[in-house]
Amino acid sequence: MREIQAAVIERAGQPTTIETLRLDDPRPGEVLVRMTASGVCHSDLHVRDGHWERPGPIVMGHEGAGVIEAVGEGLDPRVVGRPVALSWYAPCLRCRECQRGRQWLCTASPALRHAQADGTTRLSRPDGSPVLAYLSIGTMASAQVVPATAVVPMPDGVPPEVAALIGCGVATGVGAVTRTARVPAGSTVAVIGLGGVGLSCVMGAVLAGARRIVAVDVNRAKIDLAGTLGATHWVQADPETPRRTIDAIREAAGDGGPDFVFEAIGLPATIEQAIGALPPGGTAVLVGLTRFGQSASFEAFPFVDGGRRILGSNYGSSVAAVDFPALAEAYLAGRLPVDRLIDRRLALPELEDAFDRLRDGQAARQVVMFQA
Ligand code: APR
Ligand code: ZN
Repeated sequence: MREIQAAVIERAGQPTTIETLRLDDPRPGEVLVRMTASGVCHSDLHVRDGHWERPGPIVMGHEGAGVIEAVGEGLDPRVVGRPVALSWYAPCLRCRECQRGRQWLCTASPALRHAQADGTTRLSRPDGSPVLAYLSIGTMASAQVVPATAVVPMPDGVPPEVAALIGCGVATGVGAVTRTARVPAGSTVAVIGLGGVGLSCVMGAVLAGARRIVAVDVNRAKIDLAGTLGATHWVQADPETPRRTIDAIREAAGDGGPDFVFEAIGLPATIEQAIGALPPGGTAVLVGLTRFGQSASFEAFPFVDGGRRILGSNYGSSVAAVDFPALAEAYLAGRLPVDRLIDRRLALPELEDAFDRLRDGQAARQVVMFQA
């Protein structure tokens, strides 16, 4: 047992408080990780602001990296000291979806219960009451016990904040392009929404060899950042005039519209713009997660008549154990400049301020750094 510092919310919709919690030792199939970095992702904000109902009390954070400090019985202790990135969807490796290689659809992940595989948690308050860990990894904490299948070793030389981002935003955005959509070289691509996820879609489009990359956001600074990552064209969106945004995307892409449009916000209005900008044969890839219960609509006849497609992309259709090391190597080779997404490093007590900046659309990627 040890004491940790962690950002806890009592339940969805409530502010975070920094608490001292008790962390029990890892059991079989579990790993103790000392956290080094944790990115502030919009999915945390959805929970913080009550858009997504979640049980509580719960430690926030799901985009993390750390160093293995101990392993549960049965695991190889030689991994102690290894730097790792964490997956927020620890696969069970036994269900039908895991068996067919679609781990992002695992039906028995401990992440579904924000607990360990046996359904219990290693976290408790000083009074002994249990505390959950968001998606089983609750990375806004100085240390955590996590399922062993959530832990992916990183090659030497990857900074902690880069490893953290690989664990959510980068895998989600790059994977949407390379895995879910399998964008062929020479394609035209538009990306709507340039947060950590959308900027990763831009980097993914560069990796895929896209011919034109149209970066779309309401915020000019985000557009400029996308330009440094390889976007070739841009559209500054005005939510008041969605039709104009659609027309501008089509014109920038050429040939009647982009072959692929990635929506990386999660708003019904921008989902409809993504579909509306497609030429015949085009594909809209929905990456952003909406609030619960929201719908988007499109006119069916031209959609079918034009052979258009819509794909939902969860976690970039990534298999963490395979894709995280590959993303890390692409970073080390200079082909995936993940570090450029980071516009602020902060300490855990500043998390609420980081949420304010993210809510205002000001932030690119902010990362909480932990002291060794
Ligand atoms: N049109 C264009 N851009 C917009 C609009 C709009 N109407 N509204 C917001 N944006 C831009 C913001 O300016 C910001 O740059 O969308 C971007 C969203 O970025 P973040 O808030 O940083 O979100 P991110 O962490 O990248 O996550 C995006 O993916 O995983 C999901 O839950 C996550 O739904 C969220 C989405
Ligand atoms: Zn995330």
